[in-house]
Amino acid sequence: MAKSKIISGFSKLSKDDKIKLVSEYFDNPAQTIKEFKSFWHKNKEIQKLLDEFSENTITNFYFPYGISPNFIINNKNYLLPLVIEESSVVAAASNSAKFWSTRGGFHAKVVSSVKVGQVHFSWRGDLPKLKSHFEELKLRLIKNAKPITAKMEERGGGILDIELMDMTHEIVDYYQLKATFETVDSMGANFINSCLEDFAMTLRSFLYNMPYFEGQEKECNVIMSILSNYTPDCLIQSWVECDIADLGPFDDGRTVEEFVKKFEMAVKIAQVDTFRATTHNKGIFNGIDAVVLATGNDFRAVEAAGHTYASRDGKYRSLTKVNIENGKFKYILTIPMALGTVGGLTSLHPLAKLSLELLGQPSANELMMIAATAGLANNFGAITTLVTKGIQKGHMKMHLLNILNNYNATDSEKIQSVEHFKDKKVSFNAVREFLDLLRK
Ligand code: MEV
Repeated sequence: MAKSKIISGFSKLSKDDKIKLVSEYFDNPAQTIKEFKSFWHKNKEIQKLLDEFSENTITNFYFPYGISPNFIINNKNYLLPLVIEESSVVAAASNSAKFWSTRGGFHAKVVSSVKVGQVHFSWRGDLPKLKSHFEELKLRLIKNAKPITAKMEERGGGILDIELMDMTHEIVDYYQLKATFETVDSMGANFINSCLEDFAMTLRSFLYNMPYFEGQEKECNVIMSILSNYTPDCLIQSWVECDIADLGPFDDGRTVEEFVKKFEMAVKIAQVDTFRATTHNKGIFNGIDAVVLATGNDFRAVEAAGHTYASRDGKYRSLTKVNIENGKFKYILTIPMALGTVGGLTSLHPLAKLSLELLGQPSANELMMIAATAGLANNFGAITTLVTKGIQKGHMKMHLLNILNNYNATDSEKIQSVEHFKDKKVSFNAVREFLDLLRK
């Protein structure tokens, strides 16, 4: 088949026909079909559920689901579910968790939990007039949205406020309705977007029907109504603290003072250098994304908010800060996050459901503290390793099984290789040479 051909009606094909069509893009279509199908879930109902999470689905893409034990967060002991493909992330989280479990554990708090949505619109009219009638409009916006908000209000959430934003200094005739919401245990995307689309209708009809507005003032061009994934007022803090003396001892003979000095410098570098800040924050998201994925939440939203927050003063910086004062070490992560424990995939994905049960059916606020803590733990582990023995030794050790799998090593070859590389540097070359030796 012509591979450059534009495909139409793909979504209407049956799953089998979709796979068949896609298989023609491979060297061995029959084998490819088999392989795609081998990843189907054996339980047809679960497979149907998975298929319906998305569109045009032909198979499942597996990711490892690991556990990081010993996470003491606000005096509660958790086993963290982590969905991640990078070998050293679970190990880094587990090492940090164990380390801090004997030093008071992690501490976390939700600073605020407000979410934002916007109706962006163009309007040509008398702004002072619109402002003078805005309270009336606001009451209508809230009243008309009642059928959407009633249930959320019963759960303790709802619309917090709606403001009129004059954005004409940026774009001619551009305004916003900027609304804030409390969505309790749901991430709230659908709730917020439904409210916003309702606001847009009310806004249009208010301008059109109220006698205060004349001529072109009656027309309002709604550009779009959508939540903002930037949630600087849905903010979580996670931190660890202990006496500096308790950070040691180190088996390479370095003193705690030497360690703290380097650690502090590493964090300062990530505050001033954007190249380093990006990698530093990536290490934070290693932990956060893994919890977010394991609980069926939207990792793209969390990443987007975090990176925007990291650049809130115009320069992209580290999301963590270190305080060293009066012999005390305190390491703090502050990050915006909007997670849910009801709605979305959280109760539909069988493994997300199990993750939430493993975490003790947390509220959304508790889950956000857990996810932030996973981020802090991973970052603490990464910085500690970077400023002491360096990342590659441990990383390559963890990567050893991937390398062995690349060379199709047998179970027995794997056991012998792990033993052999216990005290040796792992590299692709070294592993291949060792396997060659075994295979001779
Ligand atoms: C690797 O996934 C993450 C690190 O690069 C993070 C960091 O450098 O801080 C180790």
